[in-house]
Amino acid sequence: VDHLLGIKQITSEDIEIIFQTADSFKQVINRPIKKVPSLRDITIANMFFENSTRTRLSFELAEKRLSADVVNFSAASSSVKKGETLVDTVNNILSMKVDMVVMRHPHPGAHLFLSRHIDAKIINAGDGTHEHPTQALLDSYSIREKLGEVAGKKVVIVGDIKHSRVALSNIFALQKQGAEVMVCGPTTLIPKYIGELGVKVEHDLRKALNWCDVANMLRIQLERQEIKYFPSIREYTMQYGLTKEILDNLDKEIVVMHPGPINRGVEITSEVADSEHSIILNQVENGVAVRMAIIYLLASKINRD
Ligand code: CP
Repeated sequence: VDHLLGIKQITSEDIEIIFQTADSFKQVINRPIKKVPSLRDITIANMFFENSTRTRLSFELAEKRLSADVVNFSAASSSVKKGETLVDTVNNILSMKVDMVVMRHPHPGAHLFLSRHIDAKIINAGDGTHEHPTQALLDSYSIREKLGEVAGKKVVIVGDIKHSRVALSNIFALQKQGAEVMVCGPTTLIPKYIGELGVKVEHDLRKALNWCDVANMLRIQLERQEIKYFPSIREYTMQYGLTKEILDNLDKEIVVMHPGPINRGVEITSEVADSEHSIILNQVENGVAVRMAIIYLLASKINRD
């Protein structure tokens, strides 16, 4: 593939190559000198039209560890505020000899649209409620690291499935690798199309957790909800908040994940988030190696003569 627009467009073989490349880069970033000179001739623009902490910093670190030149663009402080279009904005940046664009944008499909109008590699760092492919890849990589493999594992994604790009990309990634996927949450936060994706649906958190090997706890995406949702935050926490008491009463040990940012005390208690069950910070650590792999593999398709 020429871009990373979504998990939907890549194969299980692509995912395996990304993971094997990430394995090598994970060794690199654990050395005293955490850099390789591979991309000294490449310039990358990180363009964020939405807020981000983990993804933005993780991409920037990944690029710097590969020795790429990096420029950072934040829409909030840019000429987008004066009415400049997306294509004009990106083409102006590309004219400064930029080779690759990492972009987060609130509109689903913004990256696909851009890929038809610009001449640079594009990596999707999140497009609205649609996909967040690098998050799904680092999530699967973290499951593989913790449990040995993804194939055959049972993963439940809990929470606001309807507004979550993390959920959709994870569903595609996990299924491509042969995992079984369940979603769990209130009916109001499960999209109607979910049945077409071949995932199980469970509304009872305890039943879902007793079924799974891994639980990926999602945040309620208040910023993407047009109307005030049902249930309320308090009701949601009572029914779907993951507590130590719930974990202690399961039939087996499970791995707990969260893409961040966490709303402590809402979808997960601090006791669980900071417990030995949680691999939340391993996910963040792995994000750098996985993003290095994606950038490195896409850069190999740029004509660098
Ligand atoms: N997981 C994630 O995308 O976090 P940020 O929004 O902070 O980048």
